[in-house]
Amino acid sequence: MKDILQELDERRAEAQLGGGQARIDAQHARGKLTARERLELLLDEGSFEEFDMFVRHRSTDFGIEADRPYGDGVVTGWGTINGRMVYVFSQDFTVFGGSLSETHAQKICKIMDMAVQNGAPVIGINDSGGARIQEGVASLAGYAEVFQRNIMASGVIPQISLIMGPCAGGAVYSPAMTDFIFMVRDTSYMFVTGPDVVKTVTNEVVTAEQLGGASTHTRKSSVADGAFDNDVEMLTEMRRFFDYLPLSNRDKAPTRPFFDDPARVEDSLDTLIPDNPNQPYDMKELIAKVADEGDFFEIQRDFAANIVTAFIRIEGQTVGVVANQPMCLAGVLDIDSSRKAARFVRFCDAFNIPILTLVDVPGFLPGTGQEYGGVIKHGAKLLFAYGEATVPKVTVITRKAYGGAYDVMASKHLRGDFNYAWPTAEIAVMGAKGAVEILYRSELDDPERIAARTSDYEDRFANPFVAAEKGFIDEVIQPHSTRKRVARAFASLRNKQLTNPWKKHDNIPL
Ligand code: HXC
Repeated sequence: MKDILQELDERRAEAQLGGGQARIDAQHARGKLTARERLELLLDEGSFEEFDMFVRHRSTDFGIEADRPYGDGVVTGWGTINGRMVYVFSQDFTVFGGSLSETHAQKICKIMDMAVQNGAPVIGINDSGGARIQEGVASLAGYAEVFQRNIMASGVIPQISLIMGPCAGGAVYSPAMTDFIFMVRDTSYMFVTGPDVVKTVTNEVVTAEQLGGASTHTRKSSVADGAFDNDVEMLTEMRRFFDYLPLSNRDKAPTRPFFDDPARVEDSLDTLIPDNPNQPYDMKELIAKVADEGDFFEIQRDFAANIVTAFIRIEGQTVGVVANQPMCLAGVLDIDSSRKAARFVRFCDAFNIPILTLVDVPGFLPGTGQEYGGVIKHGAKLLFAYGEATVPKVTVITRKAYGGAYDVMASKHLRGDFNYAWPTAEIAVMGAKGAVEILYRSELDDPERIAARTSDYEDRFANPFVAAEKGFIDEVIQPHSTRKRVARAFASLRNKQLTNPWKKHDNIPL
């Protein structure tokens, strides 16, 4: 009996060594943690329960049958983060470069199936050379099995991809179908075809970092939602991020203890809006002053900074914030910001997270670049996302809400529940200057008349009261009371029930 117990311990020790000490040392030498070390940091201490530790590949080509390490290059199982359940897989680069075989894929599929069945998120740690070359099409089939599960799980459980090493070829499409992708700077990259193929086909010379590093994907492509300096920072921040999310679409996000007065008055907000309407201010100041303890987790911080998307908590409950940012491009809506915000709104709606929209938008960005790029279709994504969302929606217009962008930004007409405006709000088809130039074109050579017309337009439209008279704004509120008003609004909406008509699925302008 003792021998058998000892044998189990020995087998476990062998499995835990993955591809062996030399490869573990090589992983460390690159500044990367191993698959198991990463799970230790991500999960609560002692909470990890492993599945399939003894799974081995079954291939026989290219002499690979002589090398059948336990686990087959991926560590899978479940554990908890701050006491809440999560399913995980962590690719082990020390075993065949973390490459995906048929059995490796089966292990991932097993925990994905359990996650959907039991209603808990999946966090996948990607560190892999892609399809296991020795397995050929069996490996491609394995990927497709994972893809299909990503699709079926979408909108059912949150799926988070952590890119902590190479991720190339078709392998990138599994993370691409998850809700969030985070990368580690300098040690991770994602691309469909690597630098060598790029050189052959397009004659471009690029490094892996330039082609698909964290900077590329957080700033240019927007494939990734955030980046961190190293493995430890990434995993610590993921524990913080996980706390904002519900376990599944059947759940609400957790309520966390809060030590901040929901009725906290912020007198400084009364002077946040500069006297000059063209002067910017930092919308993040308002977000921080509305949030519990000023804490927020930003998504896609380095992409389309003219719109801010972030998770905050109000009275301990998660709220998704979408906010125009006057500090960047005057907060204008364009292709990139519309796409960024639309995806965020849809995530919130799919997972029962109420949405706070802070509006200061001069309209949609004009120009051939935008029109040729399809701003009509991309802007419609945000409009569509807001209009279909059934979660509680609270909107605060701080300053400009012009034109179509007024409609888009969670207006009353798109089923906004509470639509507030500050007294500084200007809700109109366009700004005074533009309006007067169109309406009084024949008077343009008379500056005095134009000045009088402009002042008249400002008096009539550069305020929230015309909209408030029509009931499009529920209440004009004092800026200093914003946190209290927003908190009370969300509190009153906790039992909101709204459903859209039955359909197979909608046809959002992709
Ligand atoms: C089998 C692989 C492997 C793979 C790496 N290894 N990739 N084994 N299949 N795809 C093994 C190596 O043989 C090596 O084994 C160990 O992993 C580490 O690899 P190194 O090359 O020494 O590491 P490094 O120099 O860091 O380079 C990492 C790498 C490189 C950039 C990922 O290994 C690489 O280019 N691999 C091939 C990538 C690729 O083309 N994959 C297929 C993509 S197409 P030893 O025994 O020496 O430790 C794809 C299609 C998916 O994935 C389609 C889905 C629809």
